Amino acid sequence: MSTLNSSFQIKGLELKNRIVMSPMCQYSVEAEDGVPTDWHFVHYVSRAVGGTGLVILEAAAVAPEGRISNRDLGIWSDEQIPAYKKLVDEIHKHGAKAGIQLAHAGRKAQDAKQPVAPSDIPLNVRNAEDALTSPRALSTEEAEEIVEQFKEAARRAVEAGFDTVEVHGAHGYLIHQFMSPTVNNRTDAYGKDLAKFGVDVTQAVSNVVPKEIPVIMRMSAIEYEDGGYEMDYAIEIAKQFKAAGADLFDVSTGGEGPPGKLKPGNYPGYQVPFARAFKEVLEVPVIAVGMLEDFALAEATVASDDADLIAVGRGMLKDPYWGLHAERHLDGEVHPPTPYERGNF
Ligand SMILES: Cc1cc2nc3c(=O)[nH]c(=O)nc-3n(C[C@H](O)[C@H](O)[C@H](O)COP(=O)(O)O)c2cc1C
Repeated sequence: MSTLNSSFQIKGLELKNRIVMSPMCQYSVEAEDGVPTDWHFVHYVSRAVGGTGLVILEAAAVAPEGRISNRDLGIWSDEQIPAYKKLVDEIHKHGAKAGIQLAHAGRKAQDAKQPVAPSDIPLNVRNAEDALTSPRALSTEEAEEIVEQFKEAARRAVEAGFDTVEVHGAHGYLIHQFMSPTVNNRTDAYGKDLAKFGVDVTQAVSNVVPKEIPVIMRMSAIEYEDGGYEMDYAIEIAKQFKAAGADLFDVSTGGEGPPGKLKPGNYPGYQVPFARAFKEVLEVPVIAVGMLEDFALAEATVASDDADLIAVGRGMLKDPYWGLHAERHLDGEVHPPTPYERGNF
């Protein structure tokens, strides 16, 4: 059997294979109340039916003002829990596990009247018409309140039945903003130690979830803006996130602003070397992501131990049954749900 289709366990989370659905915003909450809709139900349950081992729901905001757009998912209120529970229960019925990404957009909150951020430094944009409202710097107390909001969001995720939570520390959103030397020029404790905000969030989340539930941290291993941080810097911060309770790292890159001289790769597996480096240096399990939809490449990534798990994003938008197709391609045998058995996967 392929490594991709072999099981994987971390703490109490047992996955039937190494295939993760990468979190992808749907911007589809028409009521703007953060509650998952029929769209989300169909979208996520389809990928569970399609053979994915772990379905990670898109960025869900821990506070209304932490949404990228007003149509984002939210997990800031107990009233949002039942809709998530229904979704998680159905994902479970198809043999998949469910995670949710907990997020705060910070200065990238495009619909906020005035976004909040570590400092009042606006996001760089390529074209003037893409400029967002300049952010306001959070007070120390407000930053502490957001740590609390992450904790409460994690508690709600557990109540909804999620098997894991992913903290969004990547792509230029709030946690990444705090750790980024070009974005955080604060003079308080959150400016003296650029890891502190992410460490506090990780600790708070890890303290509120039961010990058998792993906490995933998504990070940008490098920045692409001129003057951005390099991987050694991200790894030093990741060491502190690990000590604070992050069990598994989901290794991505960039998102802090438009790339400068350094450009993100645009070829299959472009981010795998970063995942491997995190795994080796931190001695933690990792998820590799980024153009891994080629079945042989996905298999090679886990079989060679570059990563423990692979996440597929756009490939799963195109093919909800990516997991079943990978299984068929690599192992010949495939086990679709009974009503689909005649589908010749
Ligand atoms: C439509 C779309 C929405 C996305 N939303 C999120 C998100 O909510 N959180 C996140 O961490 N990454 C997000 N991403 C990035 C993906 O999770 C993934 O890391 C990226 O697309 C690279 O993987 P791929 O080449 O398999 O698509 C998004 C990507 C796409 C295409």
